[in-house]
Amino acid sequence: MKVIFSRTLLPSMIITILSLLLTGWLIVQAESNWIMVIAVLIVQFMIISILFIQFYNRYTRPIGKATKTVDRLIEGNYSARFYNGNSPEMEELSVKVNTLARNMSEIAIQEQMQSEQLTTIVDNMQSGLVLIDEKGYVHVVNRKFLEMFGEEESNYRGHLYYDVFENENVHETVQKTFLYEETVKKSFVHREGLNKIYVEVVGAPIFNERNMLKGAVLVLYDITELKKLEKMRKDFVANVSHELRTPITSIRGFAETLLDNNITDPATKEFMEIIYKESHRLQLLIEDLLALSRLEREDFRLLIDNYDVRQMVEEILPQLHQKAENKNLTFDLEVPDQLTMRADKDRMKQVLINLIDNSIHYTPSGGDICLAISEETDVIHFQVKDSGIGMDEKSQTRVFERFYRVDKARSRNTGGTGLGLAIVKHIVEVHKGKIDVESTLNQGTTIHIYIPK
Ligand SMILES: Nc1ncnc2c1ncn2[C@@H]1O[C@H](COP(=O)(O)OP(=O)(O)OP(=O)(O)O)[C@@H](O)[C@H]1O
Ligand SMILES: [Mg+2]
Repeated sequence: MKVIFSRTLLPSMIITILSLLLTGWLIVQAESNWIMVIAVLIVQFMIISILFIQFYNRYTRPIGKATKTVDRLIEGNYSARFYNGNSPEMEELSVKVNTLARNMSEIAIQEQMQSEQLTTIVDNMQSGLVLIDEKGYVHVVNRKFLEMFGEEESNYRGHLYYDVFENENVHETVQKTFLYEETVKKSFVHREGLNKIYVEVVGAPIFNERNMLKGAVLVLYDITELKKLEKMRKDFVANVSHELRTPITSIRGFAETLLDNNITDPATKEFMEIIYKESHRLQLLIEDLLALSRLEREDFRLLIDNYDVRQMVEEILPQLHQKAENKNLTFDLEVPDQLTMRADKDRMKQVLINLIDNSIHYTPSGGDICLAISEETDVIHFQVKDSGIGMDEKSQTRVFERFYRVDKARSRNTGGTGLGLAIVKHIVEVHKGKIDVESTLNQGTTIHIYIPK
């Protein structure tokens, strides 16, 4: 009812009602004059038709045009416009549809600009980039990635990653990123010979605001230059250490010989002793540097074999027992009788000697040291415990760095070089194991090593 009596329809309604009243009145007057009745009905029909046409022109036709314009906007043609001023309502509608079209057109232009900027950034990145959705479909691969791994963009985009990534390292990184839902890193050599490149791939999971996995992004860095520099550094250290080895052995040897020759002058004797002690220290440093260089060589291989753990421990015990006894330390052993493990025996000995050596060095007289070995589900667990000086939390995160020593002055006195734990960590990692340090200042330290079975 409200619609019928609205301002626009009211004149038409009044005209219709008046003409119906007039028609009724004329029909009553005409009684049996059929010609008159027909004439009145014709006039009546004409009036209603005119009203209908007017209504059609003012409302129905413009709505049809508006609908067509909206259809074109839906199709993405944001330049579509329409105007109709036949009625205030239609004028308002056309202004609003046009404003909407203009806004959409601006949004589309902005979106296109942003997408172009993003494509430019992604394609000009110096690292490879891949975007994969949660179902495993590849959405983005950038130019650098195509340069590294060849093929056309269309061979990747829209395909499942496991169908298109031929490189097993990339493949594995995506798999692990999805499986563990955490950042996964891996370095590998891609292509051999002259085209050889070193790549580091980092896979990171993408989560939505509800913390659900939405996909993964891979970034691939070309680290060939870095590797070259690293190799130069390693070669330099290895060569220098090697060159220093012979002269320092001579210096130490001659110093030892001279000391044996009953030197009478106390000053000369003292200086000779310093030469002997320092050359010994230098020799240990050189041996450690060479050990690290050997471990870092690309062609380094472990000599993996099955062996009895207890027997291995017994082979290193005499020298360590002696050192512990000299410092008046109790040395406990908790090693199961029948335990075999698969590892490089000599390297594992090196690990234990280094750790127990540290415990002896950093535990004051009268303290306790313990080597405990146990078999766990997937690993053999080694623990080297002591009741020594311990270290603070900051040092615990740094002790595996080369040349790091908690108390430089004290370590120098004990003759350490700061390479022992770096070597230990390296050996554990080439065995695919893990190393952890647990320590409390002035209470003691426990180093845990887990070697996979
Ligand atoms: N059991 C321990 N208790 C307390 N501090 C320790 C212990 N083991 C290592 N540290 C600290 O960590 C540092 C690094 O140890 P690392 O074995 O690498 O070097 P180092 O013992 O000084 O020399 P070397 O290369 O001769 O072993 C040590 O200087 C010492 O400060
Ligand atoms: Mg040490």
